[in-house]
Amino acid sequence: MEVVILAAGQGKRMRSVLPKVLQPIAGRPMLGHVVATARALQASRICVVYGHGGEAVRARFGDEEVAWALQEPQLGTGHAVQQALPHLSDGETALVLYGDVPLIGAATLRRLQDAAGNGRLALLTVELADPTGYGRILRNADGKVVRIVEQKDASAEERRVREVNTGILVAPVARLRDWLGRIGNDNAQAEYYLTDIIGLAVADGVEVVTVQPDAVWETLGVNSKPQLAELERIHQRNLALRLMEEGVTVIDPARIDVRGELACGRDVEIDVNCVFEGRVELADDVRIGANCVVRNARIGAGTRLAPFSHVEDTVTGRECVIGPYARTRPGTTLGDGVHLGNFVEVKNSAIADHSKANHLAYVGDADVGQRVNIGAGTITCNYDGANKFRTVIEDDVFIGSDTQLVAPVRVGRGATLGAGTTLTKDAPPEQLTVSRARQLSIAGWKRPVKKK
Ligand code: UD1
Ligand code: CA
Repeated sequence: MEVVILAAGQGKRMRSVLPKVLQPIAGRPMLGHVVATARALQASRICVVYGHGGEAVRARFGDEEVAWALQEPQLGTGHAVQQALPHLSDGETALVLYGDVPLIGAATLRRLQDAAGNGRLALLTVELADPTGYGRILRNADGKVVRIVEQKDASAEERRVREVNTGILVAPVARLRDWLGRIGNDNAQAEYYLTDIIGLAVADGVEVVTVQPDAVWETLGVNSKPQLAELERIHQRNLALRLMEEGVTVIDPARIDVRGELACGRDVEIDVNCVFEGRVELADDVRIGANCVVRNARIGAGTRLAPFSHVEDTVTGRECVIGPYARTRPGTTLGDGVHLGNFVEVKNSAIADHSKANHLAYVGDADVGQRVNIGAGTITCNYDGANKFRTVIEDDVFIGSDTQLVAPVRVGRGATLGAGTTLTKDAPPEQLTVSRARQLSIAGWKRPVKKK
């Protein structure tokens, strides 16, 4: 089967510089969802019909992924499919999809494909309480489809029909080529209607069959930001349901956003308002607190992200406690049982098992050993304004509060750094290193008083 995806429409109502079919659902362009679905159907070819100014659309997808057909000017859906014909092969069947109908499901399309078989024309239709705006499916007394009439061309009686055309159809390519060569634009919109092929099919004695989608939302199109948001919520609800079916506790399926792939082990719990981006793996018994953002991360078994944590390009071991209000940036690797508390930022650093930074710290470009305690207010000064340097903190080090480690610098195993130290040279193992002015007290000192 070959797939044609219509994506030439302007999408004026989005009021955006970004072409409509590149507007994202779950962080991925709508067209990307449709292409992925076509791939899932093992399409032998995917041809996207794009419009003038749609170079941005082409640029977003590699040429090896899809074939491109330019439609300029845009003279209607029939004219659009015509532009794809040079890419299609007689003897194949073609499925017509839409770049702005992103949630169409592979299961529905497989049934449509099966109904079409080798020689039939199969239409995906739905019954709507309010069919306004859609093309109506007209049937004869035997219930056989005879043609489709567009809203603008329909009589009052025809407009009462509630079965509508979703636009999605499967047809034999050779027939499609013939029919599209014969349609005209003598209608209310002076457009070449794809829907006119139905009347021609019936005249040619080709059987026209209809199939209904598993769910009506699969056929919803996007023309505006409110519709984009509506489909986003539908899609997210579906993803949340899938997670829950796999055994994940999603505290509120209406308040989760997965913009990528989220793989979960057993007994994972996700509190409200969390966002997952890219590829995220949560191992068994992971708990994600409210309002966390997790992007490209592997979180080890039993680890807990407390609320408002932001975790990116990070790998954690087991039983870590991160946050609340912690931030791990790209290149963070945590061992088992690591604790990062509030307002702790870690970047491009490895922190080994059972080390802790519980309050207000910056650990950047550092290698931290096991069982290290990093006091509140500790900062690795990794950047001299031109270059970055590493800090090495060996096992069992205790770093007092408000310490600055001016990299490159090494703190030997078992060393203690006194609070307030500005470390500019390596600290030897097992010793106390401290750099601060000695404390003194001046007896009899008087506070100044205000002059009269
Ligand atoms: C079309 C159908 C109508 C159906 C409805 C479902 C026709 C004539 N009518 O109507 O029966 O109920 O969809 O939403 O097909 N496009 C192009 N090039 C064009 C025109 C359209 O690529 O020249 C693309 C648009 O980007 C859009 C899709 O085709 O994705 C549908 O076009 P639109 O103008 O919205 O068709 P409707 O009038 O809604
Ligand atoms: Ca439309």
